[in-house]
Amino acid sequence: MRKRLIPRTKIQGGNLEKETHEMQIDTHKEPPPALLKWIGSKQQIASTIMSYMPEKYNKYVEPFLGSGAVLGTLAPTKAIAGDSLKPLIEIWKLIQNDPKSLLDRYTKDWNDYIKSLKSKKSSKPMKSLKSAKETYNRVRDAYNKSPNAYDLLFISRSCYGGVIRFTKEGKMSTPIGVHKPISPASLRERMEIWRNRIGGTLFICADFSETMGYVSEGDIVYCDPPYQYSQQILYGSQNFRICDLWDAIKKCKERGAKVMLSIDGKVKSETVDLILKYPQGLFENEVLIDRGSSMLRRFQKKGSSMVGETVHDRLLLTWKSESE
Ligand SMILES: C[S@@+](CC[C@H](N)C(=O)[O-])C[C@H]1O[C@@H](n2cnc3c(N)ncnc32)[C@H](O)[C@@H]1O
Repeated sequence: MRKRLIPRTKIQGGNLEKETHEMQIDTHKEPPPALLKWIGSKQQIASTIMSYMPEKYNKYVEPFLGSGAVLGTLAPTKAIAGDSLKPLIEIWKLIQNDPKSLLDRYTKDWNDYIKSLKSKKSSKPMKSLKSAKETYNRVRDAYNKSPNAYDLLFISRSCYGGVIRFTKEGKMSTPIGVHKPISPASLRERMEIWRNRIGGTLFICADFSETMGYVSEGDIVYCDPPYQYSQQILYGSQNFRICDLWDAIKKCKERGAKVMLSIDGKVKSETVDLILKYPQGLFENEVLIDRGSSMLRRFQKKGSSMVGETVHDRLLLTWKSESE
């Protein structure tokens, strides 16, 4: 039996009564090991998010898929998952239909990367990883010339912190990361686990409004949009507008679906208050999930102090919990 977690903070007219409550982590279903390294991934808290979902639903819909941590944890039998980043959706389709081609290309790039590490002798691990920059930059250049699933998978595993960052001109610009990308054997294993969990999912490259247009009565929708302030340069999501999301959520609710939304948590030391105002009456429940310091902020601060950088994930629900 799944443990039901009851959020205690209630929404009042678009503002929140501040109350903190201890979170219990539901360990009923663990997320699969991450296939992609993706900034903003909900890997750490996917089980907790899942524990707030109704036990019965018709289909699962996730319009901002990214690395799909919640989808992979839930492993629904019927689902639609969308993202506006085309090469990302291509990765998910290839996992379903042609995982071998993905693995072969990854293996080739990974071998090049490892060879370049061995050819430069350095006692310092950081320095020797930098020597793989040539391979990394070659793959990134190829991606920028012609964005595709194969290069994006390797980039996601080898770039700095999974920060999928684009310039205004749409070029992927994140530098090489400090960790070695996972081995092809490990990738193969992960791909197999994921294939078993996404068999019932239809992947679509679409704006969230289109994906949410497929929502009908009895569905559960999980939205994890790019952060309003800090993520506009990420994933090429410059066009994301939160007011359009409010509209889409409202329509889903009117059609009889339940919608969950992860939204900017409060970064304590920031001067900008990241808490958003949302339309009155849209949400009926809220949970704050503490998840430590944010990877994005670590990237932005490049090694300076992270004291006070705790991030809370805010989860809003459009329905009232049964036991309230
Ligand atoms: C915060 S990430 C989602 C992370 C995901 N929950 C995970 O666990 O990896 C937001 C995602 O929204 C996508 N995105 C940005 N703008 C979008 C839009 N207008 N419509 C659909 N997806 C969009 C980005 O490509 C990115 O993958």
